[in-house]
Amino acid sequence: MENLFEKEINRSTIFEDRNVLSPHYLPDQLPYREEEITKVMKVIAPALSQKRPSNLFLYGKTGVGKTAVVKHVMEKLDETKKKYEAQVDSIYLNCRTHNTKYQVLLKLAQRAEPNESFLGLSSTHLYEKFVEYVDKGLVFIVVLDEIDKVKDLDDLVYALTRANDDLKKGHIALVGISNKINFKEKLDPRSKSTLCQDEMVFAPYNAEQLSAILADRAKEGFRKGYITDGAIGLAAAFAAQESGDARYALRLLLKAGEFADAQDTKATEEYVKKARSAVEEDIVIELINTLPEHQSIVLYAIANLTAEGSKYRRLTDNGERLLFSGEAYEGYESLCKKWKTMARSARWFREYLNELDMMGLITMTMSGPGIRGNTRLIKLSFPPGKVKAAVEKRFA
Ligand SMILES: Nc1ncnc2c1ncn2[C@@H]1O[C@H](COP(=O)(O)OP(=O)(O)OP(=O)(O)O)[C@@H](O)[C@H]1O
Ligand SMILES: [Mg+2]
Repeated sequence: MENLFEKEINRSTIFEDRNVLSPHYLPDQLPYREEEITKVMKVIAPALSQKRPSNLFLYGKTGVGKTAVVKHVMEKLDETKKKYEAQVDSIYLNCRTHNTKYQVLLKLAQRAEPNESFLGLSSTHLYEKFVEYVDKGLVFIVVLDEIDKVKDLDDLVYALTRANDDLKKGHIALVGISNKINFKEKLDPRSKSTLCQDEMVFAPYNAEQLSAILADRAKEGFRKGYITDGAIGLAAAFAAQESGDARYALRLLLKAGEFADAQDTKATEEYVKKARSAVEEDIVIELINTLPEHQSIVLYAIANLTAEGSKYRRLTDNGERLLFSGEAYEGYESLCKKWKTMARSARWFREYLNELDMMGLITMTMSGPGIRGNTRLIKLSFPPGKVKAAVEKRFA
């Protein structure tokens, strides 16, 4: 009998190292981010001579290299600190998984005493453990990636900056990273000015830059000759059209590679085109899987109305369908009735729309005076059938 396991192991693939194409891979070189790397290093550098760096806030759209740049700098800091035995330490936390002040303090306390469990201890206790550790004379850099996910961020920022008053010999500095543009405005003014002592904005990449970034990764990721320049250029062009997102560009490249690999052939433009709609679908599903119940219902109602065509339908110049927020609310209310859950108030509904807009699932515009007063117009960002299927799957 044929041994399928051996066959799989010995199967030739068009990938040289698939891992290089994964979004988690951190390349040694980050083209077009040299300036940003230098600027972050400049802000952090005083730590190596026992001075407290300014807190730093990094902002930029998704996939523009914020995480990659900061991780790169933190690695450099680590190397330098080891070489010169500098009294510096740092931690990188993604706040999607550590999304409360308590959880962040827990991680910090565990850094102070790695062998202790801290189970059930109060946040004051955790705080004290950490402060005690830093006060041995350390400069400690706390990197909070996706910082907008922290539910009680004002409290956390306050605690960590107040710590500097409690410290006699050590210092703590914060690096916050976010891709949510209006998140800063929700902070209390004091934490805002603390967190943003220094600020940097990362610009989206253009098609040419994305092309070069992809080419670097493709060189290591694919076997020689198994990806065409045309495929790389097209993936870069698609991603530049979207929002200059390098993560999306990489996903296109990997998916195109997988499609081509399944056919035992090289990745060409055709496969990138095919990858585009598959990746779009994956993204919709991933986004929808993170939505709380009522946001999903609102989105489902919008998809319903978009599919049916709205009563007051208004067409844009290019024939796209826009919905009025009023009719979307009615659609949401009747879905809630059907699914036997209490509809939230119109104020909440507006908040849900803002969140869906921020996630890129819908886009909102103001109608301008004239059409039923000044109302908000809603456009679904993805095909209604795909959106509905993803919501149904989630609640099935
Ligand atoms: N200049 C670059 N050179 C090489 N790869 C890059 C560059 N910029 C980004 N990337 C790659 O693109 C992907 C996304 O980058 P990164 O995770 O840093 O984005 P981000 O700005 O943190 O996005 P988000 O806001 O969604 O977290 C990663 O795989 C990263 O390695
Ligand atoms: Mg990131």
